[in-house]
Amino acid sequence: MSRTARFDLGGRVAVVTGGGQGIGRAIAEALAEHGASVVVCGRSCATLEATVNVIREAGGTAQLLQMDVTSDEDVARARDWLLREFGGIDVLVNNAGINPHYGTIEKTSLEDWNQILAVNLTGVFRCCKLLGGLMLEKGAGSIINISSIAGHVGLKRQAPYGAAKGGVEQFTKSLAHDWAQHGVRVNAIAYGYVATDLTAGVLSHEHIGPRLLARIPMGRFARLEEVAGAAVFLAADASSYVTGHSLRVDGGWTAT
Ligand SMILES: NC(=O)c1ccc[n+]([C@@H]2O[C@H](COP(=O)([O-])OP(=O)(O)OC[C@H]3O[C@@H](n4cnc5c(N)ncnc54)[C@H](OP(=O)(O)O)[C@@H]3O)[C@@H](O)[C@H]2O)c1
Repeated sequence: MSRTARFDLGGRVAVVTGGGQGIGRAIAEALAEHGASVVVCGRSCATLEATVNVIREAGGTAQLLQMDVTSDEDVARARDWLLREFGGIDVLVNNAGINPHYGTIEKTSLEDWNQILAVNLTGVFRCCKLLGGLMLEKGAGSIINISSIAGHVGLKRQAPYGAAKGGVEQFTKSLAHDWAQHGVRVNAIAYGYVATDLTAGVLSHEHIGPRLLARIPMGRFARLEEVAGAAVFLAADASSYVTGHSLRVDGGWTAT
């Protein structure tokens, strides 16, 4: 196998949840660029369509699939469709995530907590069980759970998000252990701050933005084009002996 073949995703089917925008879109584009046939999932068809069009215009292969990761029915329907259409999948990127609530716990409602856990943690469980289950049947595959530095360190006013991402980190390790014997690798990527819709309010805040920047050894937020390389690596044979790992793409935040 040549050196570049270790990063070749030709003939692989990759599913990216939350692939319509931000980090998910950057990952979907990069996987397609490396040859994967990509299925982008999310709730809003308009953004998914935009991702599919960009990939196709660049000569890649992509399809959209409307799917809410909090819905058993949607994910089960997606599973059946993927089985019919492709006979299974090779890569699953659990990227769909939200962080709608910044505040200390006394200002956090049970509703906020449940919503954040439902998408960021239970959504990952559901997609691994139903879509990752297709890999289990096949005896091969790579699951990439999108985590955050919030899963490694305590970020102020983000306890529910941190609990969800911390849960994703531990879930990743346990699942990696359970499925290692079945040929399915399970890893996480813990991003630092990346400029997307999710973080726009915080990063542009006149006090919080500079405080966060001062905390990052590299002295800047990640650019979108810098987030996808880790996903390509974990999806491809280049990482064939890597499982149960959390790859930190954080400009050095958690190294200090
Ligand atoms: N940006 C950062 O600095 C940063 C740092 C660390 C980790 N992360 C993680 O990276 C991931 C992507 O974040 P981002 O910054 O790219 O956020 P974003 O721009 O807000 O995109 C989030 C994506 O998730 C989808 N989504 C939300 N709820 C969903 C649901 N119930 N079912 C299916 N899809 C859903 C959204 O699509 P629809 O609304 O159309 O469904 C959207 O495509 C998240 O897991 C986030 O926690 C981000």
